[in-house]
Amino acid sequence: MTDRPLSRPVRKAVLPVAGLGTRLLPATKSIPKEMVTVVDRPAIQWVVDEAREAGIEHFVFVTGRGKQAIEDHFDRAYELEDTLKRRGKTALLERLLDDLLPPGQCSFVRQQEPLGLGHAVWCARDVIGDEPFALLLPDMLVQGTPGCLRQMMDIYAKTGGNLIAVDEVPREEVHKYGVVGIDEDQTVGRAMRITEMVEKPDPQEAPSTFIISGRYILQPEIFALIEKTEPGAGGEIQITDAMRALLRDQPFWAVPYEGITHDCGSPLGFLKTNLAFAMDDPELAPALREFFEGFGKSGS
Ligand code: G1P
Repeated sequence: MTDRPLSRPVRKAVLPVAGLGTRLLPATKSIPKEMVTVVDRPAIQWVVDEAREAGIEHFVFVTGRGKQAIEDHFDRAYELEDTLKRRGKTALLERLLDDLLPPGQCSFVRQQEPLGLGHAVWCARDVIGDEPFALLLPDMLVQGTPGCLRQMMDIYAKTGGNLIAVDEVPREEVHKYGVVGIDEDQTVGRAMRITEMVEKPDPQEAPSTFIISGRYILQPEIFALIEKTEPGAGGEIQITDAMRALLRDQPFWAVPYEGITHDCGSPLGFLKTNLAFAMDDPELAPALREFFEGFGKSGS
């Protein structure tokens, strides 16, 4: 049992981006899935923006082979910037500069083998050090105002400990996710105390229909527990199994946030994500709505 406060500020975030993106092949054969376009920017930029809005100062990307485009995206592009400046494209230039991460406030570590999400998070341990951190799974894009992680930070200010954003799904779908069991009598605002967790359970055995939706706030004690975690569901080292071990010592809270989560890692999910985010854009929404109203009529 730790005797340190479990409410220290969350300054750093881990973004696991080593995955191969097989569900989006062949589109992702030579570009990282995190770089596919959602409306007008790479998917990863939306996730970074959600984290920035929540006050995250340092971003730790856990990358793998072939992911250099992500690093380049967050770096200065001197020739491009100079060309835009000379052409008087000031607004576009400012947009590019806004997307950059501050110097020295992003780190890239490699997950050398695809051993699972838990292992990917563990690869960030030296950069995170001994402080709580946010974990954002970049396949999941959340529409919400404020963003999901901001909502979680507000709850963390009251609960401390460990937080997991949850969504409810039909019982027959829980086998695709991590699932938490909750005590609905122990609440802080919208947050509910977690009593158990299991990765990809059989629907009949799942402790609830609240699934882990891809945003977490975790205390650093998780790292030592990941080291002791044996491969679990799918033969991979699962973060859910390490969290279940930490649950013996520290409180975990399930956060049903306000917003909609989209899985943009599959072709259908990716299309839906694009449409949903485009419908949030006041410049694109009217034209898109008109396009769909005419869709299917007169051979269009
Ligand atoms: C991961 C997590 C799982 C979570 C899911 C959300 O699974 O292990 O607990 O519910 O992300 O998308 P994966 O999708 O990598 O199999």
